[in-house]
Amino acid sequence: MLNKLFATQKRDTDAKSAKLSLDPDNIPHHVAIIMDGNGRWAKRRDLPRSAGHKAGADTLKKIVAAAGEIGVKVLTVYAFSTENWKRPDEEVSYIMNLMYTYLEKNFLDLKKNNVCLHFIGDRSRLSDKLQRVFKKAEEDMAGNTGLVLNVAVNYGGRMEITQAVQNIAREAAAGKIAVEDITEDLVGSYLYTAPENDVDLLIRPGADTRISNYLLWQAAYAEFWFTPLCWPDFTKETLIEAITSFQARERRFGGLK
Ligand code: IPE
Ligand code: IPE
Ligand code: MG
Repeated sequence: MLNKLFATQKRDTDAKSAKLSLDPDNIPHHVAIIMDGNGRWAKRRDLPRSAGHKAGADTLKKIVAAAGEIGVKVLTVYAFSTENWKRPDEEVSYIMNLMYTYLEKNFLDLKKNNVCLHFIGDRSRLSDKLQRVFKKAEEDMAGNTGLVLNVAVNYGGRMEITQAVQNIAREAAAGKIAVEDITEDLVGSYLYTAPENDVDLLIRPGADTRISNYLLWQAAYAEFWFTPLCWPDFTKETLIEAITSFQARERRFGGLK
């Protein structure tokens, strides 16, 4: 009886994987994820919001591995926005500590898996301790040639563009750049994600369908994919589902078919 049940379940899984097989020639190069819904996930289980953030960190570990296996080259994840400081101090400190422990726990694995880690965002508001570990992790993985993993912390798309404008203006005022030299490529080269700016697929779990100040420049021609699943429930299969949807779309970039 039980064997029969397992056999049926296995058939279902096999059918699902077959259906979910991806075209290896059309894997999105750069995938961005807004890791949202941690708080709701926890609330539904009568747990504190912190439990949702902790579960979300475990999901990130799995999705980094999955993205690498699938053949994604750049993965940019939103961990903490410039607006998230509005949350209660207790939640903000929990998230900051979680980043520290996440790195401590996963550092060797990331390194071994050839991941090239970057933190994007304004670090000046982060604790010295966090700034130090971010820098150390980046330096240690700088030579890695596998998945590029950008973790956005104290990141805001408007702030990123504003800082780029300030830096360009500084160079122009010093006579190092002429106004005519300020092209889209030049502006892009001042962004945190340069030179891998263009996002192909932007995924947002958690049921909200907005951009929340994420990668405003980079998402100019991104394909969007939303799911009501909360981030802690997101799996490799969810990622495959998003990429399957991406592969069925026609990207025209303003041109004609
Ligand atoms: C995303 O989950 C994590 C951060 C924004 C830091 P949320 O904490 O926003 O979860 P919800 O949206 O309240 O469910
Ligand atoms: C976006 O989620 C930021 C992160 C996931 C890190 P939010 O929960 O902060 O976004 P809003 O407030 O719902 O737009
Ligand atoms: Mg949220």
